[in-house]
Amino acid sequence: MDIASILNAYDPGLPLERAWTIPGPYYTDPRIAELERQAVFGATWQVVGRADQLCAPGAFVTATVGGEPIVVVRGEDGALRGFFNVCRHHAAAVATEAEGTCSALRCPYHGWTYGLDGSLRVTPDFDGVCDFDKGASGLAPVAVETWENFVFVHLDPVAGRRMALREFLGGVVDHVAKLDLSKLHFFQRRSYTLNCNWKVYVDNYLDGGYHVPYLHKSLNTVIEYKDYQIECRERSVLQWSPMKQGKDAETAAVRRGEAAYYWWVYPNFMINWYEGVMDTNLVLPLGVDRCEVIFDFYFDCIAADTEERNRQSIAVGERVQQEDIDICEAVQRGLSSRAYVAGRLAVRREVGEHLFHRLLHADLSRAATRA
Ligand code: FES
Ligand SMILES: [Fe+2]
Repeated sequence: MDIASILNAYDPGLPLERAWTIPGPYYTDPRIAELERQAVFGATWQVVGRADQLCAPGAFVTATVGGEPIVVVRGEDGALRGFFNVCRHHAAAVATEAEGTCSALRCPYHGWTYGLDGSLRVTPDFDGVCDFDKGASGLAPVAVETWENFVFVHLDPVAGRRMALREFLGGVVDHVAKLDLSKLHFFQRRSYTLNCNWKVYVDNYLDGGYHVPYLHKSLNTVIEYKDYQIECRERSVLQWSPMKQGKDAETAAVRRGEAAYYWWVYPNFMINWYEGVMDTNLVLPLGVDRCEVIFDFYFDCIAADTEERNRQSIAVGERVQQEDIDICEAVQRGLSSRAYVAGRLAVRREVGEHLFHRLLHADLSRAATRA
């Protein structure tokens, strides 16, 4: 099957009650994964870190976006800047740690040194080289913007200017502002590797709570399944549910409050909020049938005497996560089966998946037509 046939096997024009999911090859064909790398991850705002990691001048984080090594650093002037983490000499990564603080970005290979503004400052032992424009040999920039505690980059600075982060995020900004996330403090990061396509994880997230009563028996004791709500915005989905008094004591102790809110921002970022507790999920493809999901856990208090409670909350979250991992890996195996082509969507529950699939199809089709 050529790539156009795969893309055209999905009809984005069908209303939800007639719609199908994107078909199996979207999750299994390496050409789709490569197209996504460029047309989705390389062409949208992507989370690379937290603002609390980048407070002081010289503080930096590194990340991989659409297969590209990226570094974001706070300048002496207080500005946040992002660059391809690729030395202009022979392409080594200039920053090699996940995070840290430096006074300049010195490449570990041959010592070329860049200022925090990306300009090339020092080129050891490089005399006698003709037609070398040092001023034009700084690190190549990417666009950087922050929202709440989240630092985003856009690999294409021109496209990032055309659609600034706030416009990209749309309605999610005002809604999240009401929860005052600044009251929550980062506690810990955990990362999980899954044997499934990244979209399987996103689909699972966006099924409107459909799987909760069957797969997450403990979570189901605190979520009011029948009242679960799904609201789609331009490029995001809010799912929320009233909470109820649960019988599972472990879960009830750490999942409290009036309501749970779950946001998804196209294509791969989620925020899960309960009273005093939040985690964010960043889903990164590692190949057509593997992905990494990075969880950042936040709590209203991270003082030593709340550590036990916070660890308990993470343990409850991890149980749910393991249930999701197991089902996502089973789905990936099924998606390659000759017995499966595509599936239908529950009108009451799966409107978020419908939005995701249409956004994805639009980005891939636009890129494939240009190619
Ligand atoms: S590759 Fe960076 S100095 Fe040579
Ligand atoms: Fe789940």
